[in-house]
Amino acid sequence: MQQPKRYLITSALPYANGYKHIGHLAGAYLPADTYVRYLRAQQRDVVFVCGSDEHGTAIPIQAAKENTTPRAIIDKYHEICKKNFEDLGISFDIYHRTSEPLHHETSQEFFTYLNDRNEFQVFESEQYYDEEARTFLADRYIKGTCPNCGFNQAYGDQCEKCGKTLSPDELINPVSTLSGMTPVKRPTKHWYLPLDKHEGFLRKWILEEHGNDWKANVVGQCKSWIDGGLLPRAVTRDLDWGIKVPLTDAEGKVLYVWFDAPIGYISATKQWAINAGKDWKPYWYDKDTSLVHFIGKDNIVFHSIIFPVMLNLHGNILPSFVAGNEFMNLEGDKMSTSRNWKIDMQDYIDDFVNKDNGGEQTVDMLRYYLTQIAPESKDSEFTWKGFQDAVNNELVSVFANFVNRTMVLMHKLTSGKVPKLHEDVMDDKDRNMLAGFMKTKEVVEDCIEHFRFREGLFEVIELSRKGNRYMQEKEPWILARNLETNPENQKIIDNCLHVCLQLSANLAIFINPWLPSTSKKMLHMFKVVEKILFWENAGKQKLLSPGYSLREPSLLFRKVEDDEIKYQVEKLKSNAKPSTAVAEVPVEEIKPEMKAEIVYDDFAKISLFTGKILSATKVKKADKLLQLEVDLGFEKRTILSGIAEHFEPDSIIGQQVVVVANLAPRKMKGIESNGMILMAEDSAGKLYFVQPAQEIAAGAKVS
Ligand code: MF3
Ligand code: ZN
Repeated sequence: MQQPKRYLITSALPYANGYKHIGHLAGAYLPADTYVRYLRAQQRDVVFVCGSDEHGTAIPIQAAKENTTPRAIIDKYHEICKKNFEDLGISFDIYHRTSEPLHHETSQEFFTYLNDRNEFQVFESEQYYDEEARTFLADRYIKGTCPNCGFNQAYGDQCEKCGKTLSPDELINPVSTLSGMTPVKRPTKHWYLPLDKHEGFLRKWILEEHGNDWKANVVGQCKSWIDGGLLPRAVTRDLDWGIKVPLTDAEGKVLYVWFDAPIGYISATKQWAINAGKDWKPYWYDKDTSLVHFIGKDNIVFHSIIFPVMLNLHGNILPSFVAGNEFMNLEGDKMSTSRNWKIDMQDYIDDFVNKDNGGEQTVDMLRYYLTQIAPESKDSEFTWKGFQDAVNNELVSVFANFVNRTMVLMHKLTSGKVPKLHEDVMDDKDRNMLAGFMKTKEVVEDCIEHFRFREGLFEVIELSRKGNRYMQEKEPWILARNLETNPENQKIIDNCLHVCLQLSANLAIFINPWLPSTSKKMLHMFKVVEKILFWENAGKQKLLSPGYSLREPSLLFRKVEDDEIKYQVEKLKSNAKPSTAVAEVPVEEIKPEMKAEIVYDDFAKISLFTGKILSATKVKKADKLLQLEVDLGFEKRTILSGIAEHFEPDSIIGQQVVVVANLAPRKMKGIESNGMILMAEDSAGKLYFVQPAQEIAAGAKVS
């Protein structure tokens, strides 16, 4: 593939209505930053934009909670989020705001452009109105009973107990949260983007053009959306907080927040260009630009369906990749703001970064662990123990240990200078190590260019692990013991440390996209300038010149102590709020039923293979059934699975599964099911996919 001329990288604009947690960081900001740092090291033309999403109903609701104005809320949280990202090394070129006049103008122009070309449809419909507060009610302002689970505090857009997406009309006994009154229906006029008219475009662009190069979870979500039937979507609202609809017959109406927020990427680019004295237009109009959105999975349809339709109608380029990540759970449960089951970026900064004991190293410790468990293809889980293990067993014991040993031995055995390489005593081990730099470069490059950041980081750590092994085999400290009788040993020692030092310099380049301050610290020890970090230097065998004297080493990372993580786990638990859900009924311990004994041959009749869920849709008139398209590597299968009450179809796309592949086909609701998915059920009746502990190719035999 030819390299694009320039890149525009975006991270989802966070709502400026509160602190953002490390799940947000891991999904939309850290991977984007890694990618951007790599592109910059490649000296490519790249702009990285983000900013605050300051409209939408979340803002006035938070203002009411904090007893203040929406303006005060956005001013407060804009600064907090901006600073948090800075403190954690997220290197945006601009962190803009959707409350800026430039953004209001840009959004209004965008709307007007589409409206002038008759791209909207205008409909009148009946919507809930609060007669006492004299206002139409946004979905979030209506509460009622969930038709799905009976929870009586469900919102007009979603039930927080069962997670079902709702519309206000579905709520039983709706009540306005503003006045407590029962709202009435009133007619109101709105502008709609007729997505249904663009189905052909979307199918071609997403499924045909990007069906293979985009991630399965993103393509799968889009496919279920399109297959489910696209509908016109209102892009205006009856609210007073937001961007005014730029028309005379739209009094009291604002643009829907999901219409204006993504346009925020464009306004941010404009503001960046003004600040930098550049032209913003090619970034949004020139086909030779690669536009990449980094987002969490709840934002996928907005970035791969709705916004692209808008961009297409407006004559802009389309994203070349939508990096939609899955969610990160925390200590066995979903991260949740309402239940306060989360670790805010601010919490981590307070408890680790702003502490004296090696505070600045802790930024990269978090970046390391969050990448190592990045939810790239499925939900993942943050645990404090996992954090401690990753830092202590990998960063400290492998990576930092290698660099430190190298530096200490160089000071001891080669008088603090880079020793030269003596070709005459080189052996295969030396040669293999040196040749390995270039191999790692190629692999890491391929990983990053294809958005596999956790695998890329793994490769870098692997290289330092090889370094440790090499040093262990060479044992220069032993050779140094009898130099008097074997003076030629010095040459072998020189070679070993020469190789280890060149490797360390390479590690500084490789690790930079992920752990930039670690990389800087290494450069300081090597006394080299930052230019060495240009990617063209990666893989080179002569980065440090022989004879050059280096600084005393300082430790790259400190260990995470048991009491630190114990404190964090306790803090998390004691700050958690009970969920609004009904208290769980304790389940009695019962011994599971055991079927009659079988012999091996009974078991051997079953053909089990690994697979991956490509798409999932509800089966009409069957509450329990999901129709799954499963990739078995050697073929694709349609399988009906009785899990519809347990999983939202979108949420399981991309999951690895184990399939009973030789089960006789069976027809249900007119659809033939070819196989069965293995599930585990806990005592509370919750279902889990049985799946390999690591990502493995579909079609692997299970026995
Ligand atoms: N504020 C939204 C959220 O947190 C994301 C907006 S992304 C943008 O879910 F594209 F609209 F900017
Ligand atoms: Zn519910």
